[in-house]
Amino acid sequence: MADAEVRVLAQSDHRAGQDLARAAHHTSPISDREWAYAQDLHEPGLALGAFLGGDLVGTTFLLRSRLALPGGSTVPMAAATGIAVRADRTRRGIFTRLERESLDLAVAQGFPVVGSRVSEATIYGRFGHGVGSTTRAVRLYPHEARLRPEVPAGGEVRLVDGETSVGLLPRLYERLGPYRPGVIERSAGWWKAKWEPLVHSGKGAVVAVHSGPDGDDGFAVYQAMRGGDSGARVTLMVTDFHAANPEAVAGLWRFLLGVDLVEEVCARRRPADELVEGMLVDWRACRTHSVNDDLWLRLVDVPKALGARSYRDGDPFVLEITDDLLPANSGSLRIGPDGVERTSDRPQLSLNVDALAMAYLGGTSFTTLASIGLLRVTDTKALPNADRVFGTDRAAFCGTTF
Ligand SMILES: CC(C)(COP(=O)(O)OP(=O)(O)OC[C@H]1O[C@@H](n2cnc3c(N)ncnc32)[C@H](O)[C@@H]1OP(=O)(O)O)[C@@H](O)C(=O)NCCC(=O)NCCS
Repeated sequence: MADAEVRVLAQSDHRAGQDLARAAHHTSPISDREWAYAQDLHEPGLALGAFLGGDLVGTTFLLRSRLALPGGSTVPMAAATGIAVRADRTRRGIFTRLERESLDLAVAQGFPVVGSRVSEATIYGRFGHGVGSTTRAVRLYPHEARLRPEVPAGGEVRLVDGETSVGLLPRLYERLGPYRPGVIERSAGWWKAKWEPLVHSGKGAVVAVHSGPDGDDGFAVYQAMRGGDSGARVTLMVTDFHAANPEAVAGLWRFLLGVDLVEEVCARRRPADELVEGMLVDWRACRTHSVNDDLWLRLVDVPKALGARSYRDGDPFVLEITDDLLPANSGSLRIGPDGVERTSDRPQLSLNVDALAMAYLGGTSFTTLASIGLLRVTDTKALPNADRVFGTDRAAFCGTTF
């Protein structure tokens, strides 16, 4: 069979590309109504199609975003989505072609980092992607989950109706800014495609906004689900929760746990270091349901990506990176509090670019990478030092689907 031809998708083909991706994820084609919301999400020039004999058989879409980094700066990130190959043309290398081209496209378009949320964890490592952040899914039963009196208080929570939220949430989310490594920018197209349809669907998404002394500083979105035999009581499914400071986090949890007629509160995506059980009188009233990979990262321009974040005090160390797919990234870098520079000095630590993605936001330490065979240590003194230099105050967390 002839090789697939991969090229930038004409904007007129974006809808067909979306339909192909939806079919591969077992979802029906996009309706005219849904397309009216979604069509602005995808910019011209950032979608790739694979063609066989003139037929579209595979897609990858890149969305323009920015990624929050340790130190509070951000770096341009291409959010990869709509990754799919038509079911009758899989396992013959079409995704591999698309993936190579999309990494090149990201570099050419000036994105040092590509982010994705993946359906299968076994596909992406070989292309240099690694888990940049993790999330925790938690379940709390309000009748036993009381907050301790020392937990920060003082702000106010108010409910906002759907139409108001369409204007308010994008402004509030932008105001929160890069409040944690891993948080990503949401474009106007993202809000239109991902939030407005839910507001107008009548599915009862409720928006709670927290305000502190400086105004609005956090929000939680939830939907009530009625179970089998819980009578009038419901499960609150928290689907989107971002808050910039401890008062807002605590205030929103206090509110969620105080809503009447609720059997349980479930939040699928919370930062790994958000110690909800520590806020409670009964530590065991918060149960961890699962810990999951959150944002996967592919550093496509390693010097730029590493140069964009800040580093803690410590001795500079020499890190050797291997990138078989994008060889311009291979080589040694000296990394320290003053920045990142190429060097020909002997490496002290060596890893592949997928393992580097795991360390990039401080999510996985170099000591942990070494302990699971993902880092080669030539100079043992460099290991604790590298951990110190890459260390962060807050666990990386994305919490945005795309
Ligand atoms: C995942 C998908 C894009 C792969 O496309 P494809 O054209 O079959 O992939 P390739 O033929 O290029 O395979 C690349 C490698 O990944 C492996 N691979 C592909 N799909 C895989 C899967 N679902 N699970 C595990 N490994 C997979 C292949 O075996 C191959 O490995 P090899 O080189 O060692 O043989 C395609 O199967 C698909 O659209 N699936 C449904 C939608 C989906 O899951 N998309 C990904 C969203 S993040």
